[in-house]
Amino acid sequence: MDEVTSRADLRAPEYLFRPIIFETPERLSDLSAWTEHTPFAMWIVDATRPSTLAELGTHAGVSYCAFAQAVKTLGLPTACYAVDTWKGDAHTNKSDAAYADDVLDDLRRHHDPRYGSFSTLVPSTFEAAVSNFPDRSIDLLHIDGYHTYDAVRGDFETWRPKLSDRAIVLFHDINERGGDFGAWRFWDEVSGRYPSFHFLHGHGLGVLAVGPEQPASIRWLTGLGEDDRATVRSFFAGLGRSVQVRIDLEVSERRGKASATHAANLQVTVDDQQTRLTAMAEENRRQLQDAYRKLHEANLATQKVNEEATWRQGVIDESRRRLTQLEAEVQARTQHVALLEHFPICLNRQGFPILSRCDSRCVLEEEASGHGSSPIRGSSCSCGAGGRGRIVSAPGC
Ligand SMILES: C[S@@+](CC[C@H](N)C(=O)[O-])C[C@H]1O[C@@H](n2cnc3c(N)ncnc32)[C@H](O)[C@@H]1O
Repeated sequence: MDEVTSRADLRAPEYLFRPIIFETPERLSDLSAWTEHTPFAMWIVDATRPSTLAELGTHAGVSYCAFAQAVKTLGLPTACYAVDTWKGDAHTNKSDAAYADDVLDDLRRHHDPRYGSFSTLVPSTFEAAVSNFPDRSIDLLHIDGYHTYDAVRGDFETWRPKLSDRAIVLFHDINERGGDFGAWRFWDEVSGRYPSFHFLHGHGLGVLAVGPEQPASIRWLTGLGEDDRATVRSFFAGLGRSVQVRIDLEVSERRGKASATHAANLQVTVDDQQTRLTAMAEENRRQLQDAYRKLHEANLATQKVNEEATWRQGVIDESRRRLTQLEAEVQARTQHVALLEHFPICLNRQGFPILSRCDSRCVLEEEASGHGSSPIRGSSCSCGAGGRGRIVSAPGC
């Protein structure tokens, strides 16, 4: 019977099914781990209708802008404050921290025109900002700063005096148990002291009804039995999932577009380099052709020089041969002259020596006798070689 009653409660439109939970969050960012809780952020604003709302830890503003969007859509007279140094902490992704200024500027561009009339971004430490809030003034406080046990506990204790009689405190990351995350441990302690509800999806979100005078919908939420809690959890997890899918899709599209742009830019670069390479190849081909032509011309010139050298060598060889011949002739004639100088030599009619000595005066028998070509004979010439013609006499011959 209890279960039936509880299921009937779940269908109560004034508690759970508020149109605001189906609003599309206008502020989405892939930097945030809070996206899946945006439908519940809108639900709790509608359910509590706070006079003052404060957030400790805003970064890209996904959670904060979901609260602010609900305030604006519902037309509530809520004053909203987002406190953050926008400088990150040890749990912040280092590259996010590096772009903290960009993140704040980007948030301002989104936030100011939409929510500037009722909402203030407060760049400050939580500790320094707390004194700007009157005691018992805050109806909805979201703690999402540094997530060690001491930090979460410190934030809660520091801001506790500022909580009103109907205050709700939200704690993010209570289901994050890696490293030195300790929000879960503080949640285990504090959730036993006040009426509470918690979600397990989206790194976990605790809802703590600190103020004793809670509206009916919060009393309903924190009073649910375990089965109905599970139903509410899966209801908001499903809604949150659809928002997360949307941001994932948007991020994929953005990355796809960025990749396409990058690819197009790369294509331009590749085309440019291709054109330059083609021009270089053409220039290289032209230079190579030129070099081949010059080499061919040089080869032809070398061939011509070689041929000329060969021809000249032939001339030289011939000249040498002729010289050798002439030298031999000169030598022969020199010997001949020497012979003629030292010995009387008889020559025949062709001028060749009749190799024989004449010791006495020669008489040219042929001339004397008129016998024509008779061999030289006679006492005046003792050559005895049977030569013909006149005898050339050496001195004394
Ligand atoms: C997890 S992020 C907040 C995420 C945000 N709620 C969202 O919707 O994505 C934590 C933020 O808390 C800020 N923070 C941590 N400790 C702080 C402190 N003591 N004073 C001011 N800001 C602090 C960091 O700068 C960081 O931007």
